Amino acid sequence: MTMLQLIYVSSVRPGAEGIDPDTILAKSRVNNQRDEITGLLYSDGTRFLQALEGPTDKVEAAYARIKADPRHRAIVMLSEREIQAREFGEWAMAHKTPSTDADEFIGRVSDLSANASPNVRATFESFAQVRRAA
Ligand SMILES: Cc1cc2nc3c(=O)[nH]c(=O)nc-3n(C[C@H](O)[C@H](O)[C@H](O)COP(=O)(O)O)c2cc1C
Repeated sequence: MTMLQLIYVSSVRPGAEGIDPDTILAKSRVNNQRDEITGLLYSDGTRFLQALEGPTDKVEAAYARIKADPRHRAIVMLSEREIQAREFGEWAMAHKTPSTDADEFIGRVSDLSANASPNVRATFESFAQVRRAA
């Protein structure tokens, strides 16, 4: 079955630093299970990096909701591609925080966005640099 994989990066909206990723994750897991969406959410209190995989129409609908969510801003799509099999595991929404593990995830996203436009690539590079400095 052909599926859609979306990867984006965003910034926590100023003033919303206190938002609890657990609240976002709990809601996401319920919705994603229903929609056969899996993926991974990286959060460090400043940025979000999320991979979404699943049926094309469902992933597009989830992304439209996520894009409209006032808890974050400046969303940049890093990669959008058709996939034949899930690449980020079977979790309804795994969560990663700054750690060695997260570096591996960021490395994979880096590979996947290698062919992105220079603009998108620059956005990701600045994200990854902030990560390394953290
Ligand atoms: C960083 C971030 C990641 C999110 N990820 C998901 C997700 O994977 N799936 C999802 O359904 N909602 C996700 N949301 C929540 C959506 O923006 C939205 O609040 C939710 O889908 C609305 O669900 P409802 O229509 O059932 O109330 C995310 C929100 C943020 C800020």
